[in-house]
Amino acid sequence: MKQIITKDNSITFHSDEYDETYHSISGAVEEAFKKFVEPAMDFIKGKDEVSILDVGFGLGYNSAVAIDKILEENLSCEIEIVGIEKDEKILDKIKSLQPIIKTYYVIKDTVKNQYYYNCEGIRIRILVGDAVKGIKKLKEKFDIILHDPFSPKKNPELWTESFFKELRKLIKKDGVLTTYSCARIVRNNLKKAGFKVSDGPRVGRRAPSTIATPL
Ligand SMILES: C[S@@+](CC[C@H](N)C(=O)[O-])C[C@H]1O[C@@H](n2cnc3c(N)ncnc32)[C@H](O)[C@@H]1O
Repeated sequence: MKQIITKDNSITFHSDEYDETYHSISGAVEEAFKKFVEPAMDFIKGKDEVSILDVGFGLGYNSAVAIDKILEENLSCEIEIVGIEKDEKILDKIKSLQPIIKTYYVIKDTVKNQYYYNCEGIRIRILVGDAVKGIKKLKEKFDIILHDPFSPKKNPELWTESFFKELRKLIKKDGVLTTYSCARIVRNNLKKAGFKVSDGPRVGRRAPSTIATPL
């Protein structure tokens, strides 16, 4: 797994299996802020408890940035995160990273503590395994779904209508799903699964990302 320094100086890796980088090379941490977390913030205004499902947990940048942003708005907000990741090799890389994300230590502690964290209002568990199967075991509903697999071409099982239908069952009525792709097939699958879609911000990769909310 080759390490790459992206344009905002944060580190990502190149996956040999997928022949893709884990993040946009225009800025890995910037991508987490702009494409995944900032578009979701409007949906959780005023909430004292926020639950997040992080699909394709990887280096945990999306979750860590979400914690930073939520606590910035409401320091006493309770945060519950469920991450799903099939590759323990990428989770292991977390231990050696120090991105400029205030609460990244929480993600590091989660990995060191057998994928579990519970301290000062933040609870995290990372489920290691295939998301297609793992998702079916979840019972709770989430305010935010951070959907960040590799590209639809290389990682198709996480962009199907049937996978989005499972996510639809897990999202709260006023919840939001954010993802980086705006491909027509992706948006059609989201719509068929019961989501309404709109454009998210355009960052790095030129096309807009996607914001999906339950119909
Ligand atoms: C683009 S990277 C995600 C980066 C991550 N969100 C972050 O903030 O660092 C995609 C991730 O999805 C994981 N993945 C791909 N297919 C999966 C599957 N079927 N089940 C669970 N995880 C999967 C990969 O191992 C990889 O870590």
